[in-house]
Amino acid sequence: MTICQTAYLNGAFCSAADAKVSAFDRGFLFAHAAYEVTAVYGGRLVDFEGHMSRLDRTLTGIALPNPLSADDWAKVHRDLIEYNDLTEGLIYLQVTGGAYGMREFGGPDEFEPTVFLYADTKKLIGEAARDGVRAIFLDDMRWKRRDMKTTQLLSQALAYRAARKVGADTAFMVEDGRVTEAASANAWIVDETGQLITRELSFSILSGITRAGVLALLEGSGLTLVERAFTPEEALAAVEAFTTSAGAMIAPVIAIDGQPIGNGKPGPVTRQIQRLYYQAMGADVGAVAPWAMG
Ligand code: PDD
Repeated sequence: MTICQTAYLNGAFCSAADAKVSAFDRGFLFAHAAYEVTAVYGGRLVDFEGHMSRLDRTLTGIALPNPLSADDWAKVHRDLIEYNDLTEGLIYLQVTGGAYGMREFGGPDEFEPTVFLYADTKKLIGEAARDGVRAIFLDDMRWKRRDMKTTQLLSQALAYRAARKVGADTAFMVEDGRVTEAASANAWIVDETGQLITRELSFSILSGITRAGVLALLEGSGLTLVERAFTPEEALAAVEAFTTSAGAMIAPVIAIDGQPIGNGKPGPVTRQIQRLYYQAMGADVGAVAPWAMG
């Protein structure tokens, strides 16, 4: 990942290195902030409307006004793509409760949000998509409203560090004996009958935009899906596992806690879903992901 030169802060474009906010910002002091990460492929935003409606829901949930109109959000995203010549990567956006020169839990009656966006170049259809990633199981220690995309990401940051320590890439988080989701992605398995399983939407998981995109593509694919929570034991017994997120799209999970999933290689159902999703994004799959051609 490489952070692009031009960022956006509170109404103006600036150099990313100069994007600075107050140390009294409520995002910094209280993690009072919503964020979104939208993929860019072929210079175009992927599933942008879904990200904007989830942003709206998160902002409502954390008592912040939406500081920009739908048209302005779209324009800022498009301008960032243009100014940075971004063809493949991510746009990160964050809206915080703003800064008031003091640390006061409740904050003002009317918030004046801080708005920050930057762009990243990243290969979305890259090595992880081709070769798969390794996960570990970890206790899910997050708050109860994981459906809101807020910057309270300490558990996830620690999860990535714990994974890295044992040579893995990510974590499947577990609560009450069931997998909630991956550290920054939704979690899926394929059972021995070929059926897809991913947890149903609730306060316990983020309503992934990539997850929704995959669900929409299943119709007519011949694949069947059950939306329910699954156990770590089911994940280990699965023939395939993968994660979905804007940051890594469809990432095959080839091992958990050192145990191979299926034959320890990305499987045919995961490949089919990658193919469908990449095609929907406008990718020339044969050229950029020949390994997904089946
Ligand atoms: N994370 N679950 C969690 C906990 C996440 O952090 C994410 C995304 C997802 C997938 O959501 P989507 O498909 O809308 O990206 C699920 C982003 C990419 C991040 O924090 O960088």
